[in-house]
Amino acid sequence: MGDLAETPTIPLAARQLVDQQRLGFVATICKDGSPNLSPKGTVSVWDSDHLVFADLDSPGTVANLERDARVEVNVVDPVLRKGWRFKGRAEVLRGGPRLEQGLRFFERAKLRDAPKRIRSLVLVRVEKAAPLISPAYSTGRGEAEIRTEFWSRYKRLYEPRSQTRTSAVSPQEGAR
Ligand SMILES: Cc1cc2nc3c(=O)[nH]c(=O)nc-3n(C[C@H](O)[C@H](O)[C@H](O)COP(=O)(O)O)c2cc1C
Repeated sequence: MGDLAETPTIPLAARQLVDQQRLGFVATICKDGSPNLSPKGTVSVWDSDHLVFADLDSPGTVANLERDARVEVNVVDPVLRKGWRFKGRAEVLRGGPRLEQGLRFFERAKLRDAPKRIRSLVLVRVEKAAPLISPAYSTGRGEAEIRTEFWSRYKRLYEPRSQTRTSAVSPQEGAR
């Protein structure tokens, strides 16, 4: 959304992944100290140091963040089996110029009825970004092989005429 700083907290590779995937899992801390984890399909890069996602229906996440700003967001490419994890602090935007800027961003990003549906925006100041890589790579396989394996797995799952839908995933595959 914004400009890139010279030494961004969010590296270019992480920025590209978030732009492509958009789906992130957001971990917050509940009042009783237990974890809360929920998916957000609107995770986007705001600028070099910030992510943003739209609160469309996330009362638990938002309440947790308003009490305790600590947050972790994971974004993973399910086919390449790689991703990024972001640790930081969140601010809930309910008004003001940054909310307006964010609403325009989500309208341009074609989030249907963005201004009507967005209750607030969650702006995450990323303090640490670290890559995630599946142990599938520790078997010596490269990106091309992993991509082929998991792309065909998803194709088997979603192709309408697939006969093997329920048996497509071996227990071994499911664990990775
Ligand atoms: C794939 C997927 C994407 C989602 N994206 C969002 C989102 O971008 N924003 C949002 O507020 N809720 C989104 N949701 C819905 C919330 O995750 C869901 O309402 C959840 O129960 C909210 O829990 P929480 O209040 O603990 O955050 C999504 C759900 C799924 C399954």
